[in-house]
Amino acid sequence: MRDDTTTVDPGVSDAGTETPRLSIAGVGRDFHTRNGVVHAVSGIDLTIQRGEFVALIGRSGCGKTTLLRMIGGLLPATTGTIEVDRKPLWRDGRLDSSAVTKLGFVFQEANLFPWFSVIDNIALPLKLRGARKRERRARAQELAELVGLTGFESSYPRELSGGMRQRAAIARALSTEPELLLMDEPFGALDALTRERMNLELQRIVLETSSTVVFVTHDIPESVFLADRVVQMTPRPGRINKTLLVDFSKPRDVYLQTTPEFNEIVRSLRHELDEEE
Ligand SMILES: Nc1ncnc2c1ncn2[C@@H]1O[C@H](COP(=O)(O)OP(=O)(O)O)[C@@H](O)[C@H]1O
Ligand SMILES: [Mg+2]
Repeated sequence: MRDDTTTVDPGVSDAGTETPRLSIAGVGRDFHTRNGVVHAVSGIDLTIQRGEFVALIGRSGCGKTTLLRMIGGLLPATTGTIEVDRKPLWRDGRLDSSAVTKLGFVFQEANLFPWFSVIDNIALPLKLRGARKRERRARAQELAELVGLTGFESSYPRELSGGMRQRAAIARALSTEPELLLMDEPFGALDALTRERMNLELQRIVLETSSTVVFVTHDIPESVFLADRVVQMTPRPGRINKTLLVDFSKPRDVYLQTTPEFNEIVRSLRHELDEEE
């Protein structure tokens, strides 16, 4: 474990000198409300390397979702720049569509289309891109297998458990082979056991696909288990308070969570959050 405060180090990991997947510099976002201006996020500097798994943690309201939506091109930043593979996401107030095609999103709710089968939900982004039926079916089939949904291809979302729906949502996000996978509390609505299984599944999928991931959670153990780097935010305005490299080898085993090393990291992050109050 290495402990870097972002005031000293703008969150650049030691993954080498290749082009970073994502570069965020001086990013802020204000919201104008009836009660005045809310500084939701301010002065965010963060660089994420290819293949890196970064977890964003912090209390409710500290700006995690706002930051992720800005990275995903769903919300323009008020200040600063966001680059995907060194290309600005926004140029003259317009979203660069070629950058957006590199992104995949998974939200807390799976948001599957209820009237489409699992396989059709997974294949939908490919259909929207004009892929031929045969090609998209084959790819969706591979992805169903990758996320452990073989045998449920023709089921409808209402026939699946919450964990299975979330797997389908992950498969759908992976269908376009995104270079950057953005996940906003994807397992927040699941029970503890399902969540643990999903963490293992996600780890396996990410390792198999060499994906770069930004993963929002407010669950500290989950962040330490999954991430190469944990970025902790504090509220009003939402800022990066601390980043922590987690260098346990991968794949990680659930029993890692019972080791003193793991719990020491969890404790230090929790302590940091308690200090805020
Ligand atoms: N569309 C919006 N309009 C006004 N305020 C917003 C909007 N979205 C977020 N906020 C405010 O910005 C802050 C950060 O919110 P959010 O990014 O959702 O935090 P988190 O995901 O960490 O819980 C909160 O104070 C929230 O109320
Ligand atoms: Mg949120």
